[in-house]
Amino acid sequence: MSICRRAWRFACSSGAARRIGVGIAGRNRLAVTMFANSSPVSSRQTSPHPRLQAIVSRHLDSTWRRPASAAGRRAVDALLGQIPARTRLVLDAGCGNGESTFALAQGDRACFVIGVDKSAARLAAGRRVVDAGIAPRNVALLRCDLVDFWPLAAAAGLRFERQYLLYPNPWPKPEHLRRRWHAHPVLPAMLALGGVIEMRTNWRVYADEFARALGQCGWGGVSEAASSPLPLSPFERKYAASGHVLWRCRMVRRDAAP
Ligand SMILES: C[S@@+](CC[C@H](N)C(=O)[O-])C[C@H]1O[C@@H](n2cnc3c(N)ncnc32)[C@H](O)[C@@H]1O
Repeated sequence: MSICRRAWRFACSSGAARRIGVGIAGRNRLAVTMFANSSPVSSRQTSPHPRLQAIVSRHLDSTWRRPASAAGRRAVDALLGQIPARTRLVLDAGCGNGESTFALAQGDRACFVIGVDKSAARLAAGRRVVDAGIAPRNVALLRCDLVDFWPLAAAAGLRFERQYLLYPNPWPKPEHLRRRWHAHPVLPAMLALGGVIEMRTNWRVYADEFARALGQCGWGGVSEAASSPLPLSPFERKYAASGHVLWRCRMVRRDAAP
Protein backbone atom coordinates (compact mmCIF):
# COMPACT_ATOMS: atom_id res chain seq x y z
CA MET A 1 0.00 0.00 0.00
CA SER A 2 1.36 3.48 -0.85
CA ILE A 3 2.38 5.89 1.89
CA CYS A 4 -0.47 8.05 0.76
CA ARG A 5 -3.08 5.36 1.28
CA ARG A 6 -1.50 4.39 4.60
CA ALA A 7 -1.54 8.02 5.64
CA TRP A 8 -5.11 8.30 4.63
CA ARG A 9 -6.17 5.24 6.57
CA PHE A 10 -4.38 6.67 9.56
CA ALA A 11 -6.37 9.86 9.28
CA CYS A 12 -9.61 7.99 9.01
CA SER A 13 -8.85 5.64 11.87
CA SER A 14 -7.94 8.57 14.09
CA GLY A 15 -10.75 10.85 13.04
CA ALA A 16 -14.11 10.51 11.39
CA ALA A 17 -14.29 6.73 11.46
CA ARG A 18 -13.50 6.55 15.16
CA ARG A 19 -16.06 9.22 15.91
CA ILE A 20 -18.78 7.13 14.32
CA GLY A 21 -17.53 4.07 16.15
CA VAL A 22 -16.34 1.76 13.37
CA GLY A 23 -12.96 0.22 12.68
CA ILE A 24 -11.23 0.30 9.33
CA ALA A 25 -12.98 -2.85 8.06
CA GLY A 26 -16.31 -1.49 9.18
CA ARG A 27 -15.52 1.86 7.66
CA ASN A 28 -14.88 0.27 4.29
CA ARG A 29 -18.22 -1.55 4.40
CA LEU A 30 -19.88 1.65 5.51
CA ALA A 31 -18.19 3.57 2.72
CA VAL A 32 -19.79 1.31 0.14
CA THR A 33 -23.30 1.84 1.46
CA MET A 34 -22.91 5.46 2.49
CA PHE A 35 -20.93 6.59 -0.48
CA ALA A 36 -22.97 5.03 -3.26
CA ASN A 37 -26.16 6.94 -2.57
CA SER A 38 -25.36 10.44 -3.74
CA SER A 39 -28.01 12.09 -5.91
CA PRO A 40 -26.97 13.65 -9.21
CA VAL A 41 -26.98 17.45 -9.38
CA SER A 42 -30.49 18.64 -10.02
CA SER A 43 -31.13 22.06 -11.52
CA ARG A 44 -33.59 24.05 -13.59
CA GLN A 45 -30.54 24.93 -15.66
CA THR A 46 -29.76 22.27 -18.26
CA SER A 47 -27.30 24.11 -20.52
CA PRO A 48 -24.76 26.95 -20.17
CA HIS A 49 -26.30 30.04 -18.61
CA PRO A 50 -27.37 32.69 -21.14
CA ARG A 51 -25.66 35.43 -19.09
CA LEU A 52 -22.30 33.62 -18.87
CA GLN A 53 -20.57 35.39 -21.73
CA ALA A 54 -21.61 38.87 -20.56
CA ILE A 55 -20.52 38.18 -17.00
CA VAL A 56 -17.12 36.81 -18.02
CA SER A 57 -16.61 39.84 -20.31
CA ARG A 58 -17.31 42.15 -17.40
CA HIS A 59 -14.76 40.34 -15.23
CA LEU A 60 -12.17 40.57 -17.99
CA ASP A 61 -12.81 44.28 -18.60
CA SER A 62 -12.73 45.46 -14.99
CA THR A 63 -10.34 45.21 -12.08
CA TRP A 64 -11.76 43.55 -9.03
CA ARG A 65 -10.89 45.65 -6.01
CA ARG A 66 -12.03 43.51 -3.11
CA PRO A 67 -9.43 43.77 -0.32
CA ALA A 68 -8.15 40.44 0.94
CA SER A 69 -9.05 39.49 4.50
CA ALA A 70 -6.41 39.74 7.22
CA ALA A 71 -6.67 35.97 7.75
CA GLY A 72 -6.06 35.37 4.06
CA ARG A 73 -2.98 37.60 4.10
CA ARG A 74 -1.57 35.82 7.14
CA ALA A 75 -2.20 32.41 5.56
CA VAL A 76 -0.52 33.29 2.27
CA ASP A 77 2.41 35.04 4.02
CA ALA A 78 2.99 31.89 6.08
CA LEU A 79 2.81 29.75 2.97
CA LEU A 80 5.36 31.84 1.09
CA GLY A 81 7.91 30.99 3.78
CA GLN A 82 7.37 27.25 3.24
CA ILE A 83 7.72 27.03 -0.53
CA PRO A 84 11.09 25.62 -1.56
CA ALA A 85 13.03 27.69 -4.08
CA ARG A 86 12.97 26.71 -7.76
CA THR A 87 10.30 24.05 -7.35
CA ARG A 88 7.44 23.34 -9.69
CA LEU A 89 4.16 24.17 -7.95
CA VAL A 90 0.81 22.38 -8.07
CA LEU A 91 -2.38 23.77 -6.55
CA ASP A 92 -5.25 21.66 -5.20
CA ALA A 93 -7.94 24.35 -4.89
CA GLY A 94 -10.75 23.35 -2.54
CA CYS A 95 -8.75 20.33 -1.38
CA GLY A 96 -11.21 19.27 1.33
CA ASN A 97 -9.50 16.81 3.65
CA GLY A 98 -6.27 16.79 1.61
CA GLU A 99 -6.50 13.25 0.27
CA SER A 100 -6.03 14.44 -3.31
CA THR A 101 -3.22 16.80 -2.24
CA PHE A 102 -1.29 13.85 -0.81
CA ALA A 103 -1.96 11.71 -3.87
CA LEU A 104 -0.73 14.45 -6.23
CA ALA A 105 2.39 14.97 -4.11
CA GLN A 106 3.03 11.25 -3.97
CA GLY A 107 2.68 11.05 -7.75
CA ASP A 108 5.34 13.69 -8.38
CA ARG A 109 7.89 13.98 -5.57
CA ALA A 110 9.81 16.74 -7.35
CA CYS A 111 6.96 19.24 -7.23
CA PHE A 112 5.45 21.07 -4.26
CA VAL A 113 1.68 20.65 -3.85
CA ILE A 114 -0.38 23.26 -2.05
CA GLY A 115 -3.84 22.22 -0.87
CA VAL A 116 -6.13 25.14 -0.06
CA ASP A 117 -9.53 24.92 1.59
CA LYS A 118 -11.53 27.29 3.73
CA SER A 119 -12.98 24.56 5.95
CA ALA A 120 -11.01 23.89 9.12
CA ALA A 121 -13.12 20.79 9.74
CA ARG A 122 -12.22 19.24 6.39
CA LEU A 123 -8.54 20.14 6.67
CA ALA A 124 -8.27 18.65 10.16
CA ALA A 125 -7.90 15.04 8.95
CA GLY A 126 -5.16 16.02 6.52
CA ARG A 127 -3.39 18.05 9.20
CA ARG A 128 -3.27 14.98 11.44
CA VAL A 129 -1.46 13.11 8.66
CA VAL A 130 1.03 15.98 8.26
CA ASP A 131 1.52 16.32 12.03
CA ALA A 132 2.17 12.59 12.33
CA GLY A 133 4.99 12.94 9.82
CA ILE A 134 3.55 10.38 7.40
CA ALA A 135 2.40 12.74 4.65
CA PRO A 136 4.60 13.30 1.61
CA ARG A 137 7.05 16.07 2.48
CA ASN A 138 6.34 18.07 -0.66
CA VAL A 139 2.95 19.24 0.62
CA ALA A 140 1.44 22.25 2.37
CA LEU A 141 -2.17 22.41 3.53
CA LEU A 142 -3.49 25.91 3.86
CA ARG A 143 -6.69 27.15 5.40
CA CYS A 144 -7.68 30.07 3.22
CA ASP A 145 -10.64 31.30 1.24
CA LEU A 146 -9.80 30.90 -2.45
CA VAL A 147 -11.32 34.31 -3.05
CA ASP A 148 -8.34 35.60 -1.03
CA PHE A 149 -5.84 32.99 -2.09
CA TRP A 150 -5.93 33.37 -5.87
CA PRO A 151 -5.39 37.17 -5.94
CA LEU A 152 -2.79 37.12 -3.14
CA ALA A 153 -0.85 34.28 -4.75
CA ALA A 154 -0.95 36.03 -8.12
CA ALA A 155 0.25 39.29 -6.55
CA ALA A 156 3.08 37.40 -4.81
CA GLY A 157 4.22 36.13 -8.21
CA LEU A 158 3.38 32.46 -7.66
CA ARG A 159 2.92 30.49 -10.85
CA PHE A 160 1.66 26.93 -10.99
CA GLU A 161 2.44 24.09 -13.33
CA ARG A 162 -0.97 22.56 -12.64
CA GLN A 163 -4.08 23.71 -10.84
CA TYR A 164 -6.75 21.21 -9.82
CA LEU A 165 -10.33 22.11 -8.94
CA LEU A 166 -11.84 18.81 -7.92
CA TYR A 167 -15.59 18.83 -7.55
CA PRO A 168 -16.12 22.51 -6.71
CA ASN A 169 -19.50 23.33 -5.22
CA PRO A 170 -21.77 23.45 -8.30
CA TRP A 171 -24.14 26.20 -7.16
CA PRO A 172 -26.81 24.68 -9.44
CA LYS A 173 -29.47 27.38 -9.08
CA PRO A 174 -29.32 29.61 -12.17
CA GLU A 175 -29.41 32.73 -9.99
CA HIS A 176 -26.18 31.56 -8.32
CA LEU A 177 -24.19 31.61 -11.54
CA ARG A 178 -21.72 34.19 -10.20
CA ARG A 179 -20.76 31.86 -7.36
CA ARG A 180 -19.40 29.27 -9.80
CA TRP A 181 -15.65 29.81 -10.15
CA HIS A 182 -15.75 30.44 -13.91
CA ALA A 183 -18.29 33.27 -13.46
CA HIS A 184 -16.86 34.67 -10.23
CA PRO A 185 -14.92 37.95 -10.29
CA VAL A 186 -11.89 36.05 -8.95
CA LEU A 187 -11.57 34.20 -12.29
CA PRO A 188 -8.84 36.48 -13.77
CA ALA A 189 -6.69 35.94 -10.65
CA MET A 190 -7.07 32.18 -10.94
CA LEU A 191 -6.03 32.34 -14.58
CA ALA A 192 -3.05 34.58 -13.74
CA LEU A 193 -1.57 31.68 -11.76
CA GLY A 194 -1.21 29.82 -15.02
CA GLY A 195 -0.42 26.22 -15.78
CA VAL A 196 -2.81 23.51 -16.84
CA ILE A 197 -6.12 23.89 -15.03
CA GLU A 198 -8.00 20.64 -14.45
CA MET A 199 -11.55 20.91 -13.17
CA ARG A 200 -13.63 17.85 -12.40
CA THR A 201 -17.35 17.82 -11.73
CA ASN A 202 -20.35 15.51 -11.73
CA TRP A 203 -22.51 18.22 -13.37
CA ARG A 204 -22.16 18.49 -17.11
CA VAL A 205 -23.44 22.07 -17.20
CA TYR A 206 -20.59 23.15 -14.91
CA ALA A 207 -18.04 21.49 -17.19
CA ASP A 208 -19.55 23.04 -20.32
CA GLU A 209 -19.66 26.49 -18.74
CA PHE A 210 -16.12 26.16 -17.38
CA ALA A 211 -14.72 25.28 -20.81
CA ARG A 212 -16.75 28.04 -22.47
CA ALA A 213 -15.75 30.72 -19.93
CA LEU A 214 -12.05 29.85 -20.12
CA GLY A 215 -12.31 29.68 -23.90
CA GLN A 216 -13.55 33.27 -23.84
CA CYS A 217 -10.44 34.17 -21.80
CA GLY A 218 -8.06 32.74 -24.40
CA TRP A 219 -7.75 29.26 -22.96
CA GLY A 220 -8.39 26.02 -24.81
CA GLY A 221 -8.55 22.35 -24.02
CA VAL A 222 -10.81 19.37 -23.68
CA SER A 223 -13.95 18.75 -21.68
CA GLU A 224 -14.99 15.14 -21.60
CA ALA A 225 -16.61 12.40 -19.60
CA ALA A 226 -13.80 10.53 -17.89
CA SER A 227 -13.70 7.91 -15.20
CA SER A 228 -10.65 7.25 -13.06
CA PRO A 229 -9.75 3.69 -12.17
CA LEU A 230 -8.44 5.13 -8.90
CA PRO A 231 -10.48 8.07 -7.60
CA LEU A 232 -8.30 11.04 -6.74
CA SER A 233 -10.52 12.54 -4.04
CA PRO A 234 -13.30 11.56 -1.63
CA PHE A 235 -15.96 13.31 -3.69
CA GLU A 236 -14.75 11.58 -6.83
CA ARG A 237 -14.98 8.24 -5.01
CA LYS A 238 -18.47 9.03 -3.75
CA TYR A 239 -19.82 10.18 -7.12
CA ALA A 240 -18.20 7.30 -9.01
CA ALA A 241 -19.67 4.79 -6.54
CA SER A 242 -23.06 6.44 -7.03
CA GLY A 243 -22.86 5.84 -10.77
CA HIS A 244 -22.58 9.50 -11.81
CA VAL A 245 -20.97 10.49 -15.08
CA LEU A 246 -17.81 12.43 -14.14
CA TRP A 247 -16.68 15.32 -16.31
CA ARG A 248 -13.12 16.50 -16.67
CA CYS A 249 -12.05 19.80 -18.18
CA ARG A 250 -8.35 20.27 -18.86
CA MET A 251 -7.50 23.78 -20.04
CA VAL A 252 -4.34 25.71 -20.87
CA ARG A 253 -3.70 29.21 -22.19
CA ARG A 254 -3.76 28.96 -25.96
CA ASP A 255 -0.53 30.92 -26.32
CA ALA A 256 1.17 28.67 -23.74
CA ALA A 257 0.20 25.38 -25.40
CA PRO A 258 3.19 23.56 -26.95
C1 LIG B 1 -17.49 19.39 -2.83
S1 LIG B 1 -16.08 19.64 -1.84
C2 LIG B 1 -14.79 18.84 -2.76
C3 LIG B 1 -13.60 18.51 -1.89
C4 LIG B 1 -12.47 17.77 -2.59
N1 LIG B 1 -11.88 18.56 -3.64
C5 LIG B 1 -12.94 16.45 -3.14
O1 LIG B 1 -13.02 16.33 -4.39
O2 LIG B 1 -13.19 15.53 -2.35
C6 LIG B 1 -15.75 21.36 -2.15
C7 LIG B 1 -14.65 21.90 -1.26
O3 LIG B 1 -14.41 23.25 -1.62
C8 LIG B 1 -14.21 23.99 -0.44
N2 LIG B 1 -14.54 25.39 -0.73
C9 LIG B 1 -15.72 25.89 -1.17
N3 LIG B 1 -15.63 27.22 -1.33
C10 LIG B 1 -14.37 27.57 -0.98
C11 LIG B 1 -13.69 28.79 -0.93
N4 LIG B 1 -14.29 29.94 -1.26
N5 LIG B 1 -12.40 28.80 -0.54
C12 LIG B 1 -11.79 27.63 -0.20
N6 LIG B 1 -12.38 26.43 -0.22
C13 LIG B 1 -13.67 26.41 -0.61
C14 LIG B 1 -15.14 23.37 0.58
O4 LIG B 1 -14.76 23.65 1.90
C15 LIG B 1 -15.01 21.90 0.21
O5 LIG B 1 -13.99 21.27 0.94
